[in-house]
Amino acid sequence: MAAVEIRGVKKSFGTTPVIRGVDVAIADGEFTVLVGPSGCGKSTLLRMVAGLEEITEGEISIGGRVVNSIQPKERDIAMVFQNYALYPHMTVYDNMAFSLMIAKASGASIKERVQKASDILGLGQLLDRYPRQLSGGQRQRVAMGRAIVRAPQVFLFDEPLSNLDAKLRVQMRAEIKELHQRLKTTSVYVTHDQIEAMTMADQIVVMREGLVEQRGRPLELYDLPQNTFVAGFIGSPAMNFIPAVLHKVDGVLSVKFGDGSTVAAPKRIDAGATRDGQPVIYGVRPEHFALSANGQGIPTRVSVVEPTGANTEVYSRFCDTDLVSVFRERHEFAPGDVVHLEPDALHTHLFDAASKQTLMRHETQHEFS
Ligand SMILES: Nc1ncnc2c1ncn2[C@@H]1O[C@H](COP(=O)(O)OP(=O)(O)O)[C@@H](O)[C@H]1O
Ligand SMILES: [Mg+2]
Repeated sequence: MAAVEIRGVKKSFGTTPVIRGVDVAIADGEFTVLVGPSGCGKSTLLRMVAGLEEITEGEISIGGRVVNSIQPKERDIAMVFQNYALYPHMTVYDNMAFSLMIAKASGASIKERVQKASDILGLGQLLDRYPRQLSGGQRQRVAMGRAIVRAPQVFLFDEPLSNLDAKLRVQMRAEIKELHQRLKTTSVYVTHDQIEAMTMADQIVVMREGLVEQRGRPLELYDLPQNTFVAGFIGSPAMNFIPAVLHKVDGVLSVKFGDGSTVAAPKRIDAGATRDGQPVIYGVRPEHFALSANGQGIPTRVSVVEPTGANTEVYSRFCDTDLVSVFRERHEFAPGDVVHLEPDALHTHLFDAASKQTLMRHETQHEFS
């Protein structure tokens, strides 16, 4: 196992900058997820760690050793891809044994390591099969087995679950997490799926257009997103954003909307960073609205109600903004009904409208859990 450090890394293809200066520290044994929209540079960054792309500028080290000019096979990493990349003409056993044979491991040690990996992954009954005789989930497990047998210092995953159907994806997500809890191998996992990031990561790195927007523990990012991009990217349904203006009267802060109505400013606001009349974006997660019986809060008009069984998701409009709220209870609203949504000021957010950066205090999460 080994720590991975990415320092001031840049990458251009020709004259096009794709990674524009990234710093990420990954502790020994940690599971780090790189997440962001398609095209933001996740795979490129991972491939630079693997040694499959040259580093234009900056430094990457694995286990304290700078690897910029070290060949992929000398880096002691194993990579798992989205498309499995199994050898079709080899059995499951041979697929797993192949890299060890190339590395000239002894027959006994190959047998032992393949056996151990197949036990961990539940592949024992499938060792004589060929990839075409396996389901998608089984193939993905073999691809992981191939990585495990090598007992590398670092696992690199590039969207390994994207080709699986939704149910299998959820199951494999838990399996990979369990595997990591067991092996504790330093892992870097790329996905565009924020739920995978939230559920699997020790550390999440949110990327956008070749830069890191924020990194931290999953619930840190959820509770204290540094800007509207991270706030909108992490969480589903996404955080609601309402354009507003900040009012500061005798030191008391309130948030005024386009229709002239107001709500209390977030409790965790960094008052020193704000001014009267400042254009802001007010953010509320769907689960942080309560239904108000006495006409308090934000008056919205219902457009669609979605009962999921466990929850009721209500889509409604306020001042040209679409809002979504989620309730544990069942509600039978009709389209056109007026519903008053009361935000929980302990959990609301405020961002500067121009910079899109947070106006909240930097606290640790336990203060408002
Ligand atoms: N070999 C390449 N040559 C030129 N451009 C590339 C190459 N590989 C990736 N890119 C570009 O770099 C950007 C980031 O790609 P990628 O790292 O694959 O993003 P992600 O994995 O986040 O979807 C994209 O705009 C992509 O088109
Ligand atoms: Mg990619």
